[in-house]
Amino acid sequence: MNSTFVTSALNASQWPDTDLPEIVVVGRSNVGKSSFINALCNRKKLAYVGNTPGKTRMINFFNIDDKWMLVDVPGYGYAKMSKSLLIQMGNMMEEYFSSRHQLKAVISLVDARHEAKRDDIDMISSLKEKNIPIIVVATKVDKIPKTKRIKALKTISQSLQIPLRNIYGVSSTEKTGFEDVTQKIYEVLGF
Ligand code: GTP
Ligand code: MG
Repeated sequence: MNSTFVTSALNASQWPDTDLPEIVVVGRSNVGKSSFINALCNRKKLAYVGNTPGKTRMINFFNIDDKWMLVDVPGYGYAKMSKSLLIQMGNMMEEYFSSRHQLKAVISLVDARHEAKRDDIDMISSLKEKNIPIIVVATKVDKIPKTKRIKALKTISQSLQIPLRNIYGVSSTEKTGFEDVTQKIYEVLGF
């Protein structure tokens, strides 16, 4: 995959003017969205990764092979952020989800170690309502013993009400699980 950073945007006027289909990566703050993008693209520093939650604060667009765009956004569920910033970021995301016609699918990241949280469930149901295809990815599987991984994915499947076959386990640090996700992305994009 050949990836290039296109732009960061705070509002619609800054979104790139292209007709390429877009896939956005969503999830709780610190779940590993930016790391996932880097591992998927096989790049070390394409998207900004942080040790503390709330690192990504704008909508970041990455051009993939001049065929589609991968979009990195701020995480939800980070309570320590100031209220005004939370509202500003919420509005920014709402604007994107409600009016970005290039948006084709969402990759929804959840931490493989925990069952999905209330805000994950809310996010998935709002996407289901909007009829946007959802790919669920469980991150940080390297933190679970191999023998317990299937069980962990089953727990997530149940809490999100998404079939187990549509949940992909990955480790961005160990770069495992990305072939299947890539294949699924191409299937969803119709390539
Ligand atoms: P925000 O932008 O703040 O919402 O966070 P994010 O979801 O983009 O998470 P980010 O990629 O910045 O990663 C958060 C932390 O989790 C970093 O310390 C990463 O190194 C770590 N991390 C991400 N993916 C993995 C993984 O697959 N395995 C392990 N062990 N750590 C990971
Ligand atoms: Mg991030």
